[in-house]
Amino acid sequence: MAPDAAGHALSEAEHGGTPAFDWLVTGATLVDGTRAPRRDADVGVRGGRIAAIAPAGALQGHAAQQRVDAAGLVLAPGFIDAHTHDDTALLAQPALPFKLSQGVTTVVTGNCGISAAPVLPGRARPSPLDLLPDPPGGAPASFAAYLQRLRDEPAAANVAALVGHTTLRAATMNALDRAADAAERRAMAALLDEALAAGAIGLSTGTFYPPAAAAPTDELIAVGEPLRGGAGVYTTHMRDEGDGVLVSIAETLAIGRALACPVVISHHKLIRAANWGRSKETLPAIAAALQHQCVGLDCYPYTASSTMIRTEPALLEGRVIINTSVPHPECNGRELAHIAAEWGLSKPEAARRLQPGSAIYFLMDEADVQRILSFEASMVGSDGIALGERPHPRLWGTFPRVLGRYCRELGLFPLETAVWKMSGLTAQRFGLADRGRVAEGLAADLVLFDPATVADRASYDEPQRPAAGIAAVWVNGALAWRDGQSTGARCGQVLRRTAP
Ligand code: ZN
Ligand code: CU
Repeated sequence: MAPDAAGHALSEAEHGGTPAFDWLVTGATLVDGTRAPRRDADVGVRGGRIAAIAPAGALQGHAAQQRVDAAGLVLAPGFIDAHTHDDTALLAQPALPFKLSQGVTTVVTGNCGISAAPVLPGRARPSPLDLLPDPPGGAPASFAAYLQRLRDEPAAANVAALVGHTTLRAATMNALDRAADAAERRAMAALLDEALAAGAIGLSTGTFYPPAAAAPTDELIAVGEPLRGGAGVYTTHMRDEGDGVLVSIAETLAIGRALACPVVISHHKLIRAANWGRSKETLPAIAAALQHQCVGLDCYPYTASSTMIRTEPALLEGRVIINTSVPHPECNGRELAHIAAEWGLSKPEAARRLQPGSAIYFLMDEADVQRILSFEASMVGSDGIALGERPHPRLWGTFPRVLGRYCRELGLFPLETAVWKMSGLTAQRFGLADRGRVAEGLAADLVLFDPATVADRASYDEPQRPAAGIAAVWVNGALAWRDGQSTGARCGQVLRRTAP
């Protein structure tokens, strides 16, 4: 295969086309996103695409606008963050340093039922919808308007956008504590249909959260009708990731079968000590389903979650750190237990007083995290929320942490598998055929990193520290990040689902 690649590059030059590459990366260790064994290679980029791949040294003599000697470094497909809440950050913080510094070149947005559009003026948007602040210029009234804004004001990374069921509920229903009636279901399905036509890649739900908890399974199926046959992906923050996790998985799989569409279980985890170890039950259930339906899952490499401030005692039984509190910003960064003691209140009472806001919850077991991360079908997704001064460290650390801690240090899987879980597998699961692999003709989203030093640096105490070891990142053929700095390139595209 490699000699063909070289021959292809040379024959183009002979035909007098445009022989000079925009970028030529020489002598890299290529980990191509397919799980194929690493190999030494030269890679030429032209016109935003990967133009040639050849054995190391074979493209040396070629003309190129810019060259990078990548000896000792790994060249991989730009990482695809399978699970983000970057919907409005793409517009408000378009340099996206928390993505590029990790090697992430594509973000999947609109997860957990929460999307930036459609937002109708005057409608209430209860938590967790407030995890997405309005972008500058206001909230887009339609999904088409949202995607158009992203095209008009590109961010530094590509986006593949899901529509949030909770967002649709808020746009359609006058009360969210009940099931949608038939007319409301039709209205939501019509909005989803419109969004898919405009370029959305699927639907997400978040029945874990109060504004969608009253939605029964048949509402989710009715709203998801436009996904039928794989016109879009169904992703879900399931109703229950604790005691009822197996029932929730069964519900998710049933929705996928009813709509004949791929499903993705978001940030799979087992919460509360009583459920630790139960990934030994959930993963076999998912593996069994994989025999006859399309199922994916994503996870992040941490034992703490982060979301809106909740008050249910079961969700507060571990350590809780308040990230942001609207009424009590002086409590940002403090432990709920300390605040509650100071106020002479129970933790749920103190949490109620701190709402609305966001918090970090230590509710998972490391052995489950490792088992889920290693599972064949698991993709890497950060679930990062770019809000406030003290975000969960996953926002800045997820991908380098998998490469450094879980792959290199703990040896959970080979580097080829780690990269695949961050690129090729994810592109396949979401139907992004032009991404996720280093192959001739594909979009030139690339990351160059040092496999010996790549590591996360963000911690719960210092959550905004960029990763170590990421040398360079290209998005659609343009250098977007180099040696710890953004280049200012804003070449992100709105990606459509191109494969069923
Ligand atoms: Zn979620
Ligand atoms: Cu999420």
